[in-house]
Parts: sequence; structure tokens; C-alpha cells
Amino acid sequence: MQCEAEVRRRLQEAGQEQLLRFWAELSAGQRESLLEELQLLEPGELREHCRRAQEAYREESSAPQRLDHRMSPGHPDYMGSVRRSPPEQLQTWEEEGFRQISQDRVAVLLLAGGQGTRLGVTYPKGMYNVGLPSGKTLYQIQAERIRRLQHLAGEKYSTRCTVPWYIMTSEFTLNPTQKFFEAHDFFGIDRADVVMFEQRMLPAVGFDGKAILERKDKVAMAPDGNGGLYRALADNRILEDMEARGIAYIHVYCVDNILVKMADPTFVGFCVSKGADCGAKVVEKSYPSEPVGVVCQVDGVYQVVEYSEISPETAERHNPDGSLTYNAGNICNHFFTLDFLKIMARTLEPRLGYHVAIKKVPYVDAEGNLVKPVRPNGIKMEKFVFDVFQFAQNFVAFEVVREEEFSPLKNADTADKDTPSTSRRALLWQHYRWALRAGARFTDASGCAIAEVSSVPEAEDPPAVCEISPLISYFGEGLDVHLNNRDLTSPFILDIQGV
Ligand code: UTP
Repeated sequence: MQCEAEVRRRLQEAGQEQLLRFWAELSAGQRESLLEELQLLEPGELREHCRRAQEAYREESSAPQRLDHRMSPGHPDYMGSVRRSPPEQLQTWEEEGFRQISQDRVAVLLLAGGQGTRLGVTYPKGMYNVGLPSGKTLYQIQAERIRRLQHLAGEKYSTRCTVPWYIMTSEFTLNPTQKFFEAHDFFGIDRADVVMFEQRMLPAVGFDGKAILERKDKVAMAPDGNGGLYRALADNRILEDMEARGIAYIHVYCVDNILVKMADPTFVGFCVSKGADCGAKVVEKSYPSEPVGVVCQVDGVYQVVEYSEISPETAERHNPDGSLTYNAGNICNHFFTLDFLKIMARTLEPRLGYHVAIKKVPYVDAEGNLVKPVRPNGIKMEKFVFDVFQFAQNFVAFEVVREEEFSPLKNADTADKDTPSTSRRALLWQHYRWALRAGARFTDASGCAIAEVSSVPEAEDPPAVCEISPLISYFGEGLDVHLNNRDLTSPFILDIQGV
């Protein structure tokens, strides 16, 4: 390990000597752990990182960069749609997806390295239980969807197939996630098919361009964004693992979407049939000014444009048929070929720019007191997973129905959207619809019929509570045999123990 003098010299070179300012007060153990952390920070990179963070913060604080005059919606041919494509076409895509899955050519990759600061829990978001009758966590729901999908593909093609689950974690989420999976016996998945790996961390920087100490003996570090994926794939030799398993296509998704259709055969089949190297699922915006990124072209190249980069006039622009011109809301649900990921991870990653996030970063003040700031005080630099679209040779998008596929868990229940309650309701409404479609009827505890309701008021629970295990149905299929013509007492859980 490097000695104090050497570490101090390197910090001076980086202009970050303040990180040792409590040195005299530290115990031997604290000194050791601080030196261990600091020696990993290469002086040139640290200097550049802090300079870039401060510069990005200044730019962000000045007038927002608008992209309006460089944007176009893209050619209609690049977009497939669950609502607009003919049913036979959707079925062909689905079959192609199942064929690829049955041949062990499809993997799913979960982005689970985020800190979930808005939700405000101390453990990884995937371990969150949104209050479903079963008490299942997001990780469990996802694991069960993988198991069901393997079963469906295997049944269709009379094979035994595997969809490996790659999970990108960070310093915050790796250990608890590993322990959680161990404690639950990997939710019935073969542990050899769950591959966890860790993304890199970067120092959080104050508005003065100085890296922040979160304790006297610890630098405030944050994961390098979900676009840290590409470096993490290379660091951990994940692409080699995929290659060894014969994987050709990867579905990348976020941990917090309770409705995520992992390795969705229709999406995978659509992308494969189009010969795409990179694809994104999108949903229609709920309203023109909705704060979501939109997939479109900028200077003729596909990318995600953030809502802050568009003027209200452009966000409101309509086509002659009345639809919104920029309507393809990004839901962090991507398709990549293995070949594309190889090019990104091994060659093009350094060309991805950083985005700046201004956050509240706990720190020690000059007197050594721990402070939990009430206002944002720090700059975190992040890469975004979707910033690779610009490098695709053949980019496609696939529009899906929001109520069926997208309900993210971002905030605590004190917020009015993207909360545990909205996620729980989204899933329960979906399962209620599936049950009705399968021919079920609902009664209350005293046997009185509960009237059917078809619309989905976001703020309300469905009239009857019904939760269906993903082990029984991946996306509403195969339920007639369990539910047709049955009277179900709400709340009702359909799980494998009950069939
Ligand atoms: P968000 O941008 O919503 O961040 O992540 P978050 O960490 O979950 O929540 P906040 O912003 O702190 O409240 C979108 C997805 O990207 C993953 C998250 O785990 C989530 O699945 N992510 C985010 C990473 O994997 N690594 C990161 O560095 C950041």
C-alpha cells in the first residue's frame, strides 16, 4: 500500500489535498482505510474529474441547452408498436423471440447499481416490497418471470432453455443483493445462471470543484451512472461470459419497473427480425410536458432528448393526425446485440459524455461535524445507458402500452407519482384485468358480487384485489384453466401452491 507521503503528493498533483485534512485525528485503522481508498484515485483522472464536474455544474446552472432546431422525430419505419402493428405481425415477432430464447441466445441484464435516494430506503431497491398481498419483492417478481419465460419457451420448442440473469450492482448494492439472493435460494433459479458484477464509483464533488469527504476517513463516492454498464462489462469480463454461453441478444432493464416484461419475446423478436443492433421500448407520453426523455433524432442520429432540452413549444407540437410529434417516451428498456455491446465496451465507451446530477451529499464540515444537507450541495457525474444509441448502425424502437408495461418505483409514498402505491396498483389492476379476461368473477368476503370496472383510475385500487404469480402467468397467458367461470373472493392470490 502507498504511504501517506506518496498519497499526499498524488493528491497535491490532483489539487485535492483537502481529502487528508483530518489525518492527524484519525486512528491507525481509519488511516489505513482512507489510504486504501485514496490510492485508487489516479491523480490525472481525479483532477480532470473534479474540473469537469465543476464546469458541467456551471453550464447546467446557466441557460439550458435546447436541441429543438436540431431534432426530428425519425423515420416511421424504425418504430414497431403493440397497438398499431397487425396482430399476425406481433405473433410472428413473438414466435421469433421465443425461438431465440429456446436456443439459449437471449440474456437479461438488470441495472441495479443505483442508490435509490428518492425512495429513501437503506437497502437496494430490488429488495423493496411494495405491499402486494404476497409480499413479494421486485427481485422475486423478476426471478419468477424469468422462470416462467424459460418454461414457456422450452414448452413451445420442446427444449430445456436458460435465460441467464446478469445483475449490475455497485458498492452500495452488491453485498446486500448477494445476501438476499442467498437467503432466498436464488428464488428457484440455478445460481450459476445469476451473474452479479459491480460498476465503478466516482467521487462526488462540491460546487467549489473539491471532492467531498462523507466522513473524516471516507471520500463521498457515487456509482458512475447506469451508463457505467459499458465499463463494468469490460472490467468484469461479462461479455466473455455471455459469449461462452452462446448469448447473442441482451435485454437491459431497470430494477424499479414493476411491470417489466423481461426478455419480452415480442420485443426481442421484433428487434431480431429488423436486424437491429440496438433497440428501445417506448411508451406514449401521458401529456406533452411530461418530464420524460423522448427517443428521436438529433442531427439525423437517434438519441434520447431530455425534457429539459426541449422548449415547451416543441414538446406541444402535434402531427396533422393530432398525435404528438415527440411522443416516444423512453422507459429504460433496451435491446442490444452482443456484437454491439462488444464495440461499445471495448472501443466506444470513452466517447460517452457525462451528465451532471446535483444532489444532497452528506459531508463533514470544517469542524469535523457530520452534516446532512437540506439543499443540494454536490455534483455527481453519471453516464447514461441510452447514450449509446448514437453509435447504432440500425436502431429501432418498439412502442408498448404504458398500463401494461411501465410503472416505475422512484419516490416514497409522500410523492404523488411513481411511488410504492402507484406501482402496487399498476400491478394489481393488470392482474385484475387478466382475471376478468380469463372469465373470473369477484365477490367480497360476504359473498356479494363485486361489479366489474374497466377503466384504470391511477389513484385508486381495483375493485377486487387479485395477484397472480409470475410462475403461473408471464403476461396474462394460460389463465383460463385456473380462473374461467370461477367466483374468486377478494383479496385473491393465485400462486403455484394453490393450483
Ligand atoms: P435512477 O436514475 O432512477 O436512479 O436509476 P436510482 O439510483 O434508482 O434512484 P435515485 O435517482 O437515487 O432516486 C434508473 C436505473 O438505473 C440504475 C438504477 O438501479 C435503476 O435501475 N442505476 C442507476 C445503476 O445501475 N447505476 C447507477 O449508477 C445509477
